[in-house]
Amino acid sequence: MSNCIIAPSILSANFAKLGEEVDNVLAAGADWVHFDVMDNHYVPNLTIGPMVCQALRKHGVTAPIDVHLMVEPVDRIVPDFAEAGASLISFHPEASRHVHRTIQLIKSHGCKAGLVLNPATPVEVLDWVLEDLDLVLLMSVNPGFGGQAFIPSTLDKLRAVRSMIDKLGKPITLEVDGGVKADNIGAIAAAGADAFVAGSAIFNAPDYAGVIAQMRANVAA
Ligand code: DX5
Ligand code: ZN
Repeated sequence: MSNCIIAPSILSANFAKLGEEVDNVLAAGADWVHFDVMDNHYVPNLTIGPMVCQALRKHGVTAPIDVHLMVEPVDRIVPDFAEAGASLISFHPEASRHVHRTIQLIKSHGCKAGLVLNPATPVEVLDWVLEDLDLVLLMSVNPGFGGQAFIPSTLDKLRAVRSMIDKLGKPITLEVDGGVKADNIGAIAAAGADAFVAGSAIFNAPDYAGVIAQMRANVAA
């Protein structure tokens, strides 16, 4: 699959020069900016909010901003991110009392909607909402931190969700997040993913363009 989406997670970027980091990673060939929002409640870490998203837009970032909400509750923050320039907003079903309502809320604010499944969350959570989604994000680590190892059972889960999406016949993006590297991205793509979040693998490398090119080559191989 050559038209894969590479979405660097800015969680591993240098926050002291975030605008420059985002410019550099986009110039290096990234497609989306993956924006990890953590609240020290749903996950044991605290990161960035809508003001930073808006600052990136003001800085001149035009690429899609892929907001991954690891916050509870979800609904209150959705309009703020839409106003701040988010393109896609994804959330965890465990963090919303009314998953269908949250999906509609995101769409009513003009953003694409995604649902995020933790490693232990069964795929059945998608059964009655898949057709409303633009994106499914499978976590291949437990959310909260960058730099963790890819959980191998995610490959079977990707195959299961890929077949659900294909059966439905709608163009829903299947994204994977956590521990994605150039050396495992081929297997992840073969299991059915078409969008790949990578934080430490890209931002800890000296040459962003080199890693991204290698990832694309390994997806296509
Ligand atoms: C984890 C975040 C990920 C994380 C990925 O909760 O959702 O986006 O930053 O980082 P790596 O690629 O280093 O596993
Ligand atoms: Zn993420």
